[in-house]
Amino acid sequence: MPDAQRILVIHGPNLNLLGTREPEIYGAATLTEIDGFLASMAKDAGCELDAFQSNHEGLLIDRIQEARTNADGILINPGGLTHSSVSLRDALLGSELPVVEVHLSNVHARETFRQQSYISGIAVGVITGFGRNSYRLGLEALIHHLREA
Ligand code: DQA
Repeated sequence: MPDAQRILVIHGPNLNLLGTREPEIYGAATLTEIDGFLASMAKDAGCELDAFQSNHEGLLIDRIQEARTNADGILINPGGLTHSSVSLRDALLGSELPVVEVHLSNVHARETFRQQSYISGIAVGVITGFGRNSYRLGLEALIHHLREA
């Protein structure tokens, strides 16, 4: 039996407010609910999962740096840092781990500045626009990717 895949889920700034923050765009699910179904999906799939949210770019980068030695892949919703952070991209690249980028909203159907991502170019793939299901689909895609690697 192969070792369980270890997955790190990263949620960027403002995602702690899910459920109350612009629900017409981001939906009604709270971050606790999202982390809950991801944990149960991972368990069913025989994977280990750790989730981390921060509003602080440096803390996100510290956690990603640690993942290099204790995770096999990263599922990330970088929030607004998607569109601005070279440092977050560098940290993900430095981790040398496969990355799947997810967004609740369809960033391509919104303001022009949201259509640029510093992360997509280094990700295995991107899932955007399916609300909470973007996370489900992203986790499934990452697990498949890790098992095929
Ligand atoms: C988001 C999209 C970003 O543009 C925005 O800044 C967010 C959430 C999403 O999940 O749709 O914070 O990443």
